[in-house]
Amino acid sequence: MDLDLKETLDLATAWALKAGEIHLSYFRKRDLDIHTKSTVYDVVTRADKEAEAFLISAIQARFPQHAVLGEETGEHAGASGWRWVIDPLDGTNNFSQGLPIFTVSIGLQYQGETVLGVVYAPCLREMYTALKGEGAFLNGQPVHVGNKSDLEHAVLGTGFPYDKGSNPDNNIANLATILPHLRGIRRMGTAAYDLCCTAAGWLDGYWELALNLWDVCAGVLIVEEAGGIVVPFRNDRGISIVAGNRTMVDLIRERIN
Ligand code: IPD
Ligand code: CA
Ligand code: CA
Repeated sequence: MDLDLKETLDLATAWALKAGEIHLSYFRKRDLDIHTKSTVYDVVTRADKEAEAFLISAIQARFPQHAVLGEETGEHAGASGWRWVIDPLDGTNNFSQGLPIFTVSIGLQYQGETVLGVVYAPCLREMYTALKGEGAFLNGQPVHVGNKSDLEHAVLGTGFPYDKGSNPDNNIANLATILPHLRGIRRMGTAAYDLCCTAAGWLDGYWELALNLWDVCAGVLIVEEAGGIVVPFRNDRGISIVAGNRTMVDLIRERIN
């Protein structure tokens, strides 16, 4: 690897802070210019586009050889083994409603393996970071997954795919099956933040189907570096994962599909 990852993490953290400033400059005040994408439930705003444009230009100015995959603009080819995977605003539905749980997610892969992850929640001022093999941190302090070993005491996160209105395979049957066994369920509205909450033990576990790489690239590394595991539970609907400590992941998997 031809890169100082600690220095690169400092850069990625600074870019996440700046993207968060872009979010906050629009949040609850400016014209959001809301449009729909894949379905009527899938929205994009001016802030998503502006944050993505900022991140791509910052990455390309510093690392012109690196590829970038961004949710709003797709693949930007590079000429090296490095690829940045960015979701400029994860939780756009929350953001556009004025709800304060949303994030920017920045992952960096080397030859397909994620080695750096940053997720920043600007309203909460929570910066989650991880480098492969170096642990996971919230605002510089180490975080660890929770140690619960039964569903009865567990609070889990989940989400629902954007085609939920037309496709009955929409996670509602899973919810109906598992909810009676849980202390609680939360629908945070940002997959990146669900994963960070799992990494820090604020959630005891998380599952969701039909995600995209930009939703989870950084967050999966953050969970793994916090001592958790992330496993796929099916392979027919994009990225479908369960996260938590090993026991919790096994217990969730027994009740969902
Ligand atoms: C969405 C959020 C949401 C999840 C959706 C994602 P977006 O991302 O992460 O929590 O349930 O599947 O697409 O559209 O806000 O970037
Ligand atoms: Ca997303
Ligand atoms: Ca997004």
